[in-house]
Formats: sequence, C-alpha cells, structure tokens
Amino acid sequence: MAGQADIEKGTAVACPVVVHPAGDAFAPRAEQLAARLGVVVCAEPAPDALLLRVDEKGISLVGSGMELRGDLTRMLPRIRQGALQRELLVRAARTKGATAPWAIDATAGLGEDSLLLAAAGFRVTLYERDPVIAALLADALERAANEPQLKGVVSRMTLVEGDSVAALWGLSDALDAGAAAAQPDVVLLDPMFPERHKSASVKKKMQLLQRLESPCGDEDELVRAALAAHPRKVVIKRPAKGPYLAGVKPSYSIAGKAVRYDCLVPPPRLA
Ligand SMILES: C[S@@+](CC[C@H](N)C(=O)[O-])C[C@H]1O[C@@H](n2cnc3c(N)ncnc32)[C@H](O)[C@@H]1O
Repeated sequence: MAGQADIEKGTAVACPVVVHPAGDAFAPRAEQLAARLGVVVCAEPAPDALLLRVDEKGISLVGSGMELRGDLTRMLPRIRQGALQRELLVRAARTKGATAPWAIDATAGLGEDSLLLAAAGFRVTLYERDPVIAALLADALERAANEPQLKGVVSRMTLVEGDSVAALWGLSDALDAGAAAAQPDVVLLDPMFPERHKSASVKKKMQLLQRLESPCGDEDELVRAALAAHPRKVVIKRPAKGPYLAGVKPSYSIAGKAVRYDCLVPPPRLA
C-alpha cells in the first residue's frame, strides 16, 4: 500500500491539476487516480494550484477558493413524480413509441442532465472527454449508485470517457453497415457556453471548470456528428437568449427563463 512517503511534497507542478489526498488514509486512492490521469500526487501543493482533492466524501475539484463536487443527490427534488414531467429537457427529449429509449449525452459534464433523462426512462450513454471532469462524474455516479433513491436511475447510466464526436461517427458507420441497434433515439448537446448563468456562485463554479475546459470551439463538428448518428431528435441546450448552436435553425424550441432547448428533428432514415 502506498504511504505518505511515496507522495511528492511541496512541489509546484506545471500540470493543469494535481491530486491532493486529504490525509494518509486517502493516499492509495489518490495515487490510483493520479496514475490514471497521468498527473502527480502532491501533499503540499502550491496555493494557486488546481487540485483534485481526495477525501472521505470522494473527489472534488478545488481552486481559486472554491470547491466543486459532482453531487447527483441535489437533483432529487427535480426527479420526483410530477416535477420530472415539467422539466424542459424531459419535455424536449420526449419520443413517442420507443419502449426502451436510448439517449446519448454527448457533453456529459457532471451528469445532471443525463440524470433527468435516465429518471424519465432513457438508457443514457454519457460521453465526457475531459479526464478530470470524467473523474468527478465517475465519482458522483459511484456515490449516487449507493443512494437508495437514485440507485435504479443510475443503473441506466453508462459513462464513457472520451470524445463523443468520434463515437457518434462510429455509430453512423455501424448504421451504414446495417446495425439498426446502433441508432439512438436522442442525442443531447450542451457544450460550454460563456456567461450563460446569471448567479454569481454558478458563474464562479463555471470559472473553475473553465480552468480545465474553454468554451466549445467545435460546435459544427458536434452538430454534424449528432445528426450523422440518425437519432430521432437532437436536443441542444442553450442559454434562453443564446444563438443557435453552429447557427443551425431548430425544428422547434422549448424555452424557459434561463435555458432553451432547441430540437432538431431530422427526416427518418431510409433503410
Ligand atoms: C456545459 S458542460 C455540460 C453540463 C451537463 N449538461 C450537466 O448537466 O452537467 C459541457 C461538457 O461537455 C464536455 N465536452 C465538450 N465537447 C465534448 C465532446 N466532443 N465529447 C465529450 N465531451 C465533450 C466538456 O468537457 C464539458 O465537461
């Protein structure tokens, strides 16, 4: 078992993030995580470092005086019977006739939108390409799987760490080769958008995430890949007054005060 002696001490590391165990007991998990991410463990990090902190609650991202932890239990009030059906995303993703609908969340982030879809009955495949955000999400899913109220919902969610654009084109190729099971019902896109939240605390958390990930620069690629996978619908989350993603005009939109869901309904795929 790795101990404190194995942990690099007091080194300012030129990495986007360092892993910081909150005590000796967390050193083994910290080392595992650091090895997976290809970063170092640091017991006494520089004050301005961006940390992936490992403690008794799991993993959190710490920096600029803030802490961000994936926490799907926060979503419990929104997935209660009655509340869930009023969620704009659930209304936007609704597909008639599919008995076991399948959604791909191509920009999973911390998995909150995916959880809404899974609670609404979708099997959800979550793609997250940033390894640090994927680690936070994996940790949040692991904790949620131990919550009796979330267990069933989370069992329908599968995280894939990687680029959804490549995966969606892979599905498109599989469909062209005749694999009908490769056709998702819904593809959800929610790429990072600058200044989309008004609340100061959310803005700060976005700043923390933006130390890892800059606003989306491959909008066109995302929309093209999503449509190539021939879903029944592409659902795009935007700020209420934001421009269309990649300038593509939706078939229709469902708008609330802060967010808008633009729905692209492609023509049915010819067999
Ligand atoms: C605004 S966040 C999504 C928030 C998410 N809807 C939620 O409920 O937590 C956007 C995320 O998409 C990820 N992302 C952007 N492009 C991606 C791609 N091509 N493949 C996988 N993940 C991507 C980013 O790393 C970022 O974590």
